[in-house]
Amino acid sequence: MAERVEIFEMGPRDGLQNERRLIPTPDKIALVDLLGRAGFARIEVTSFVPPAWVPQMADAAQVMAGIARAPGTRYAVLTPNLRGYHAARAAGADIVAIFASASEGFSRANLNATIADSLARLAPVAEAARADGVALRGYVSVVTDCPFDGPTPPYSVARVAAALRDMGCSEISLGDTIGQGRPETVDAMLAAVLDDLPPERLAGHYHDTAGRALANVDVSLARGLRVFDAAVGGLGGCPYAPGAAGNVATEALAAHLAARGFDHGLDMDIIHRAAAMARALREAPDA
Ligand code: HMG
Ligand code: MG
Repeated sequence: MAERVEIFEMGPRDGLQNERRLIPTPDKIALVDLLGRAGFARIEVTSFVPPAWVPQMADAAQVMAGIARAPGTRYAVLTPNLRGYHAARAAGADIVAIFASASEGFSRANLNATIADSLARLAPVAEAARADGVALRGYVSVVTDCPFDGPTPPYSVARVAAALRDMGCSEISLGDTIGQGRPETVDAMLAAVLDDLPPERLAGHYHDTAGRALANVDVSLARGLRVFDAAVGGLGGCPYAPGAAGNVATEALAAHLAARGFDHGLDMDIIHRAAAMARALREAPDA
């Protein structure tokens, strides 16, 4: 039997957060509900962050309240602090995701804090998740390249990944936030992280700005990773990372994995419909 590789769907959160046009809440709910029929084990739905920071996610509670939960799918939300955690819990999130940066420049831009201060702010979130029995996922951003500080040393990624593991994150997702990673730099980064963490605890989160995300998935597969984040239609980016394009497209990643003989378990008809829906939600190009 083909070996399973999980695609963790990010489109509704990492994808839509970067759209300037405010997308109507019912359209977001329709996208999540369609994705829920595609067979994903996990979908990241939204984020509970201050609306002043990411206006597109201001309707997080309404989106969570409106979705129809598919059996067999767990719904994740992103949160930067305890206030976001409590809102995520109230909204019935199955998984809470927290995030930190491997570079000081991006930490300042995205979290308004040093790496150390951002980790200190996340500690009570992790503690609350542990007490409540809520699954906790961690992200490390700018794992190969930072738009402010340049190349990221692999040991910086390993250090932040280990800190998130020590806090109680069951899985750490390694983010090439601006999609500038190359197979060699991703491989060197993974070698450093794998000194501390087994591949079963890691996920690859590769934006596709330079068209190298699938090549970066390949080196990660060779290192034993079996979970990858992706966004239908290749939606998104990060509003605080200049030049970042979307995550690798779910449909491209699924086709790539299938061609390599891996089983992703997704219904491709529904994926293609969801990709078309996601693209239609995109801001219309300027006339
Ligand atoms: P800050 O401005 O220093 O925070 O931001 P603050 O604590 O001073 O709060 C500012 C205001 O927001 C206050 O309101 C708070 O009450 C309120 P005011 O008193 O001014 O009226 N507030 C909140 N409101 C709603 N929900 C909350 C919340 N918390 C405070 N949870 C902070 C610090 C960390 C909050 C901010 O920097 C932040 O939210 N940053 C996140 C930005 C973001 O969402 N970026 C995109 C997601 S990360 C990403 O995409 C990368 C990833 O995909 C992986 C990869 O690709 O690398 C995960
Ligand atoms: Mg991202």
